[in-house]
Amino acid sequence: MTSLIAAVSWSLHLVLFVLGLITATSSEMIAAIVRPGIFRHVMCRNNLYPRSGVLRYPVPDELVYWSEDYGEYCPPFYTAPHINGQVWADAPLPSETFKPQWNQLDGNVNRVSYHGAYHIKDGLPRNPIGRTGISGRGLLGRWGPNHAADPIVTRWKRNDSGGMVSDSKTGKNILQMVAIQRQDNKLWAIPGGMVDPGENVSVTLKREFTEEALNFTDKGLMVEEFFKSGGVQVYSGYVDDFRNTDNAWIETMALNFHDQDGTKVGQLNLTAGDDAMNVRWTDMDGSLKLHANHADMVKEVAIRLNAHW
Ligand SMILES: *[C@@H]1O[C@H](CO)[C@@H](O)[C@H](O)[C@H]1NC(C)=O
Ligand SMILES: *[C@@H]1O[C@H](CO)[C@@H](O)[C@H](O)[C@H]1NC(C)=O
Ligand SMILES: *[C@@H]1O[C@H](CO)[C@@H](O)[C@H](O)[C@H]1NC(C)=O
Ligand SMILES: *[C@@H]1O[C@H](CO)[C@@H](O)[C@H](O)[C@H]1NC(C)=O
Repeated sequence: MTSLIAAVSWSLHLVLFVLGLITATSSEMIAAIVRPGIFRHVMCRNNLYPRSGVLRYPVPDELVYWSEDYGEYCPPFYTAPHINGQVWADAPLPSETFKPQWNQLDGNVNRVSYHGAYHIKDGLPRNPIGRTGISGRGLLGRWGPNHAADPIVTRWKRNDSGGMVSDSKTGKNILQMVAIQRQDNKLWAIPGGMVDPGENVSVTLKREFTEEALNFTDKGLMVEEFFKSGGVQVYSGYVDDFRNTDNAWIETMALNFHDQDGTKVGQLNLTAGDDAMNVRWTDMDGSLKLHANHADMVKEVAIRLNAHW
């Protein structure tokens, strides 16, 4: 009987161990998941293109990759009319006067993908993940990669006496992040934004945070110092964004800026900027629904800091 219990107990341990391994694998870094040939985007397929009446051509799961034969594939071409002529946007199409240097730094416009060289098909860059059901640029300014930067600003959740608050189920301390509610799709998101031509990503991160979460209010040296202390890079690569097309897509670099003792940015009163409807310190939890694949990036921060998720 004892040996039976021991055997059962041993098997149970083995099962738990294997489960642990599986969990470790499925909670793998987002960089290992979001890769061409492994990842199939979801947000930029089988829906109405945002702020337009343009329906994406159907792209079933099994026909996302360009390597999968899809003879009938015939996506509509769409570039939002207001994009043309904007200083932050490319010309309507490559021409004698607009000859983009794909896959390299083109003047001060970064046309390099984090996923290596992308293909040029009929004179236009091809989405490295696969089909989206729409060609053209949609709402995006650049052909090919459109570079963004996302600051994941975190602090520990604390009670009124300053003690850390843990989750009753996982027993782990709860992290809070600065999240903004987007105007365009009303979803909560990391307060990031597009990298301006020639701009250092570290500058974008602080600028976007100040614009979107502090409404440009200069909080002085403290914010400056906090961002200067350097974030931890969480991810750099493709974003499963609802604006992506076959020829234009968003890539980001996400960095975590963590206020360990809650005495710096963790104390700030947040004010939503014009691009955001709301801003708040949000508890980080596995049930968090965020814009694009932001939840995967945020989850990685929780894992790294051994926090509740
Ligand atoms: C705050 O949390 C600490 C543990 O982190 C706990 O000891 C303390 O009782 C809590 N205080 C209140 C007011 O809940
Ligand atoms: C961007 O800023 C970081 C931190 O200040 C610095 O280490 C890096 O060299 C800068 N990169 C460029 C391309 O200027
Ligand atoms: C944000 O700043 C703008 C410009 O300074 C101001 O008009 C607006 O009222 C501010 N919004 C909030 C919510 O404070
Ligand atoms: C934030 O707002 C609260 C309440 O209005 C205030 O007591 C506190 O001093 C503010 N904190 C900062 C850092 O401005």
